[in-house]
Amino acid sequence: MDTLDSRFVDDCSSATSWTSAERLYDDRGTDVLPSDGPDPIVNMGLWRAPDGARAATLHEANMQLFDRVLDLAEVRADATLIDVGCGFGTALLRAASRTAASSIVGVNVSEVQLDLARRAIARGGLGGRVRCVNASATALPFETASIDHVISVEAAFHFAPRAQFFREAQRVLRPGGTLVVADLLLAPPSGRTSAKMLRQIAEALAFPRQNACTLSEYRAEVETSGLRVSVAESVGRDVVPSFRRWMLRNSFKHRAARKDLGAWPYLLYPLDYVLLRATRPLASAA
Ligand SMILES: C[S@@+](CC[C@H](N)C(=O)[O-])C[C@H]1O[C@@H](n2cnc3c(N)ncnc32)[C@H](O)[C@@H]1O
Repeated sequence: MDTLDSRFVDDCSSATSWTSAERLYDDRGTDVLPSDGPDPIVNMGLWRAPDGARAATLHEANMQLFDRVLDLAEVRADATLIDVGCGFGTALLRAASRTAASSIVGVNVSEVQLDLARRAIARGGLGGRVRCVNASATALPFETASIDHVISVEAAFHFAPRAQFFREAQRVLRPGGTLVVADLLLAPPSGRTSAKMLRQIAEALAFPRQNACTLSEYRAEVETSGLRVSVAESVGRDVVPSFRRWMLRNSFKHRAARKDLGAWPYLLYPLDYVLLRATRPLASAA
């Protein structure tokens, strides 16, 4: 690790003004939503799908993102699926309509978001199949080897630390089970200016700076947990420029977008987006 890396890692552990994800999302409530569609979602969206389909709205881009994650998960019939960092529960409802999973559980630290997620589940008459729990990604409230699929959509960058979430995913997955993560990837800072920008992003968006890494480091973090990575794809070009354009165009319309523009380094910092799929090997049943 060079001098700059050491400095920014040290800063992480000693930060005092860091906003926790729980506080960030509970304080903002539904104001966190720079949304242009019917469902509450807090993601940047996949604006170009693998078949080349281009989204016209942020909502469409977010549905494409959920569908890509669920496709990568290859959800089995009667499976148990958990969505870690489930926001307002929209991906849970999408999983209920697009898969034959029999038990779908959302995990979130924001009680405000969970409350709305539970109402959406009840409105959809899905209470027997879909539920939510208030728990942290770093201490999942599930038995070892009890879950078939773990998904996490644009939330793992918040987890403190993200590596502990991967260990937890490895623990709760059944042998052969899949982890699929869509996540923001913030590169480690390359100089003083980017280190300063990263500090501002960390404080404004509840991003623990030790989570800044390259794609190969991200992949290695997952492998170190004992999971076997089969896909680790950079899709930043299909996510970041369109989302940033959307934010700039809509900042006058949406209070949430205006607030996020306040964290302006987030619009300039080297940002990528990763889609990753990993499996718990059959041999690691113990
Ligand atoms: C950017 S939002 C993404 C929300 C969601 N994936 C969606 O589809 O709208 C990040 C989510 O992660 C949740 N979160 C942050 N830290 C968490 C943690 N340690 N454990 C569980 N959820 C967490 C937040 O409360 C929020 O719901």
